[in-house]
Amino acid sequence: MHSKVKASLVAAALAFSLTAPAATIEVQVDQPGAKINPAMWGIFFEDINFGADGGLYAELVKNRGFEFPEAMMGWSKLSPSKARGQLSIHNENPFNAANPHYLRLESEGKDLFGVANEGFRGMGVKAGEAYNFSAQVRNVSGSPALRVELYGSDGALLDTVKLEKFSGDWQKISAVLHPKVTDAKAKLYVLVDGKGAVDLDFVSLFPDNTWKHRPGGLRADMVQALADLHPGFMRFPGGCIVEGSELNKRYQWKKTIGPVEERELLINRWNYEFLHRPTPDYFQSFGLGFLEFFQMCEDIGAEPLPILSCGIACQFNSGELCPLDQLEPFIQDALDLIEFANGATTTTWGAKRAALGHPEPFNLKMMGVGNENWDAQYIERYAKFHAALKAAHPEIHLISSAGPFPNDEHFKFAWPKLRELHADIVDEHCYDKPAWFLNNTHRFDSYDRTGPKVFFGEYAAQSDKVVSVKNRNTWECAIAEAAYMTGLERNAEVVRMASYAPLFANAEAWQWTPNMIWVDSLNLYATPNYYVQQLFSRNRGDVILPVKLGAPEIPTNKLFASATHDNAAGEVILKVVNAATTPTVAEIKLTAAGKITDKGRVTVLSGANADVNSFANPKLVVPVAATLTGVGKTFNHTFPANSVTVLRLKVN
Ligand code: AHR
Repeated sequence: MHSKVKASLVAAALAFSLTAPAATIEVQVDQPGAKINPAMWGIFFEDINFGADGGLYAELVKNRGFEFPEAMMGWSKLSPSKARGQLSIHNENPFNAANPHYLRLESEGKDLFGVANEGFRGMGVKAGEAYNFSAQVRNVSGSPALRVELYGSDGALLDTVKLEKFSGDWQKISAVLHPKVTDAKAKLYVLVDGKGAVDLDFVSLFPDNTWKHRPGGLRADMVQALADLHPGFMRFPGGCIVEGSELNKRYQWKKTIGPVEERELLINRWNYEFLHRPTPDYFQSFGLGFLEFFQMCEDIGAEPLPILSCGIACQFNSGELCPLDQLEPFIQDALDLIEFANGATTTTWGAKRAALGHPEPFNLKMMGVGNENWDAQYIERYAKFHAALKAAHPEIHLISSAGPFPNDEHFKFAWPKLRELHADIVDEHCYDKPAWFLNNTHRFDSYDRTGPKVFFGEYAAQSDKVVSVKNRNTWECAIAEAAYMTGLERNAEVVRMASYAPLFANAEAWQWTPNMIWVDSLNLYATPNYYVQQLFSRNRGDVILPVKLGAPEIPTNKLFASATHDNAAGEVILKVVNAATTPTVAEIKLTAAGKITDKGRVTVLSGANADVNSFANPKLVVPVAATLTGVGKTFNHTFPANSVTVLRLKVN
């Protein structure tokens, strides 16, 4: 904890200041305003930066099915001095037609001969934990055994298992490995032991300790980090990845459910999107598919918000259009998704959900049509989705797109058209400098309360500029986002939801920065931006309380406030962002409040502008909580320099 913060917290706990207040913050407790959407603060998941494969999806083997166009990518030949053998890729009689390629290993038997997998920029294994190996194997000639081994980055053997007696038909083999030491860059070896040949496919290694211990599941620490945010919703699967650079590369949810070996591999658009950050080994296995997304939402208490292609490929890429009169399959995908999520188990897609082990509905309430699509081409297509979906499912709220930028010509074109169409919720995006966020906290004050609502669906302050590799998750960015979020909260009547983007990045395989959570093969750290999101999400409140801010001596865009009331806790929640470089003493007035408990709670998040968290120093900027005393109808409070403060005050 910063010693500066500690000192100010002590001052805050005393709650008195001898300094004359430079600001007044009046919370009109007796004038509760609009209800805040319980799902207001959510998360945006996209398979960017190895967010799914190499991230949330806990599979440790890269290119497990030899389906990458370069079939041996991720694999290397292991041929100790005496070993003689051959590797070849085949596709006749595969174990599964959706995964047609497999590896044939032929050994002369003089020594162990085989392959090693490098994992996703390193295979992270932990001492004392179990790792579940499985593969499809078929004996071709002779009767060789297989050795499955884990090696550390220093070449030390971490564990080994021998498997033998394979038939001439494909069979699934499995074993459990227990590495002796922790290693961030271990390798999995599969070696032929004896003379002969075997076919090998779908080689997999999962930690046993996945989220909720689900076999083939998700990385427990990453899901936990999301659960700790208490997100109101989760948008998935993106982002641009929804649209595809061409239509045939769009995300198609129906191809992501069912047995994993039947989910066809697709190149990830972030593989080739940025020439300055090429990622040739980035593909989508869809091991994290739509069922897993819904299940994760259920686990972490987030409303599911799937976004589907509207029939336009990414307009930053080809912008390929599905002709209007051929949109029916796209619309049908949306209708079927609603049935998959909510339908009775007697319906076609509800039955599929049940067959996949989840007979209970997922209670889907909203769905997005298109991501960052624009112009008449989008409006025409959205109109068709809107008509069909509203006719069949008026209960589902539809999210429409206002394009990629918060104020350009596409944005200005979209809004009136969407208003005419009686769109439910419009998705606005903004990636800009911290100053944009500080200067736009009043953006929504003048929005029409009667038209479509707003989903501020992607935003992040950029320390350099959008798409720059120099962007960092600095405190300067995080505090600007916090200031902006007070504006979103004050306008929660019209801004119904918001999410920071992107969510995850693998520190060794990212394309885009900044991101909310950074991971490597073993660990993660949360950024200051994460903690800002967490503060808002965990201190949401149920209704808005008007706040009057008086700070004549403080330069504009330095002090921001919003307030809500938490009905169950009987607490006023006051959020104050002090972006000034000096502490600010404010007189806080709780107007027309009944009995006020003199003890409250204060949580402060603070740092220096350039502060970032990191693997080495993950807790440089973290919230610090304390008891607040001396609370009354009017009391003074010192808000530390460069801080975000949440006060929770019990008011009868
Ligand atoms: O969040 C990264 C990308 O930014 C998203 O995929 C896209 O929607 C936006 O342009």
